[in-house]
Amino acid sequence: MPVQRRGVVKTAEGSSIEKKIKRGNALRQGSGWKKPIVGTVAVSLFIIAGGLGWLYVSQDEFVTEVFVRQDEFLDGTKFVQVPCSEDYENFKRFKGCTPQRCGRAVTDAVISREEAGRMLRLAESGLALGGSDGGASILDLHSGALSMGKQFVNIYRYFPDEVKDIFSEEDFELYRSLRQRIQEEIARTFGLDASRLFLTKPTFFSRMNNTDAKTIHDEYWHPHVDKVTYGSFDYTSLLYLSDYGVDFGGGRFVFMDGSHNRTMEPRAGRVSFFSSGSENLHRVEKVSWGTRFAITVSFTCDPTHAISDPTLT
Ligand SMILES: *[C@@H]1O[C@H](CO)[C@@H](O)[C@H](O)[C@H]1NC(C)=O
Ligand SMILES: *[C@@H]1O[C@H](CO)[C@@H](O)[C@H](O)[C@H]1NC(C)=O
Repeated sequence: MPVQRRGVVKTAEGSSIEKKIKRGNALRQGSGWKKPIVGTVAVSLFIIAGGLGWLYVSQDEFVTEVFVRQDEFLDGTKFVQVPCSEDYENFKRFKGCTPQRCGRAVTDAVISREEAGRMLRLAESGLALGGSDGGASILDLHSGALSMGKQFVNIYRYFPDEVKDIFSEEDFELYRSLRQRIQEEIARTFGLDASRLFLTKPTFFSRMNNTDAKTIHDEYWHPHVDKVTYGSFDYTSLLYLSDYGVDFGGGRFVFMDGSHNRTMEPRAGRVSFFSSGSENLHRVEKVSWGTRFAITVSFTCDPTHAISDPTLT
């Protein structure tokens, strides 16, 4: 995995590798009269490099690693286990479903880019019916909630005719099929029986750009824990519909692990999923240009919080 580190780690590693190389060169070249000169030059280089390093660190104290890059293609599922938090203990436990093993995963092999493209067109036309005044809009096909100005409306009630024009039964079929495949991949990765997992709310399309927030609903960039925000969540997944660095800038998904930030770069067709507790504290960076589309698909182990797939009729 190509790992990009900025700030402290890079500087620390950079300078120690640099030291080793320079020491090697100094030893090799260090015969006869050259020795003291090489030594002095090397020492002053270290001082200069150290000074620059310090400046760099003090300006930017982020330690950022890339978990997966946009231009990588993961033909399998990359899974990293992390110790479970205690969040799940505040809720009823469901055997064979409540996370025992926690972690985060990403794959490009479950949904094709062509399928993501079809979902993108659905998201674009659905969201075009409304849209928030701020930079973040959502469309929830289950409840019908659509951002509109500073609030939400129900598309099925407000736009019954438009809904029938815009969406086809095939679109909804694809949506259900994607949901099912994501559910199966979560179950496979976490060692669960897929039938014990239930879709829960909110499950929605999101559209983000760099327009200033007008209400709290537009502020998607705050660090949060899904299990704390929405008690019903046990596994959260995201299906990206656009490409980081191509369709938009900023907007990377960031796992915040205390000493490290690990970024997930969106790629159309990419699915990322993780156990929803504090072990996966995360945020989305502010989008700096362009428009970022994704679908959040949420799962619970608690059948009383289950929702059904949306239908057109
Ligand atoms: C991680 O990112 C947040 C902002 O997104 C920042 O406040 C924090 O310092 C970063 N942590 C590290 C260790 O870089
Ligand atoms: C960004 O989103 C806002 C709010 O949904 C919308 O009004 C605006 O037109 C969008 N800007 C661009 C450049 O797409």
